[in-house]
Amino acid sequence: MSGAVEIASGLSYYPGYLDRAGQEALRDEIGAILAAAPPFVPRMPRTGRPFSVWMSNCGELGWVSDEKGYRYQPTHPETGASWPPMPARLKAVWAALAPGAPPPEACLINLYDAAARMGLHQDRDEAEFSAPVVSLSLGDTALFRFGGVARGGPTRSFRLGSGDAMTLGGPARLAFHGIDRIYAGSSTLLAEGGRINLTMRRVAKG
Ligand code: SIN
Ligand code: FE2
Repeated sequence: MSGAVEIASGLSYYPGYLDRAGQEALRDEIGAILAAAPPFVPRMPRTGRPFSVWMSNCGELGWVSDEKGYRYQPTHPETGASWPPMPARLKAVWAALAPGAPPPEACLINLYDAAARMGLHQDRDEAEFSAPVVSLSLGDTALFRFGGVARGGPTRSFRLGSGDAMTLGGPARLAFHGIDRIYAGSSTLLAEGGRINLTMRRVAKG
């Protein structure tokens, strides 16, 4: 485990937060979660345009998006089943990187293939913004872009590699952010390549 780099006020980056053994253990736990809660293709509100990432969730609540809008819900949008529980390993990362924050109800699992992207957006479907969003990345490196809290302002980019953690808290909690590209083949962690990003969120006021 290595220390934090404060890239911007409230945006802390923890390169190599999980060592290889920790990444493999988490990868295997996420594999079991995805077997129970199969990845789905989210769709944009109103237009129904599909995202290029696939998603799933674990925890009491999961983030979903379709023609009806963005929301958190306790069940998988296709199977109707409750989301699998959040592994203790993830809760421990939250406790370490978001000390004092109420526990996260949701962990969004984003699955990227080499062509997937995520446009600039804010994470603002939660009722509680005092807790940070805690991010963990597995597999291929991604180019992460972030800006300020207003759309259209200046942005900066850095790479999130396998095992890296990041927190978006304080003045960066509502920062615009997204993924511009995936560096295919940059990691050997996932047999089929690609990238998994996990973001834990506190949803309800805590
Ligand atoms: C997200 O903003 O939901 C995901 C960001 C990432 O994949 O690192
Ligand atoms: Fe996000």
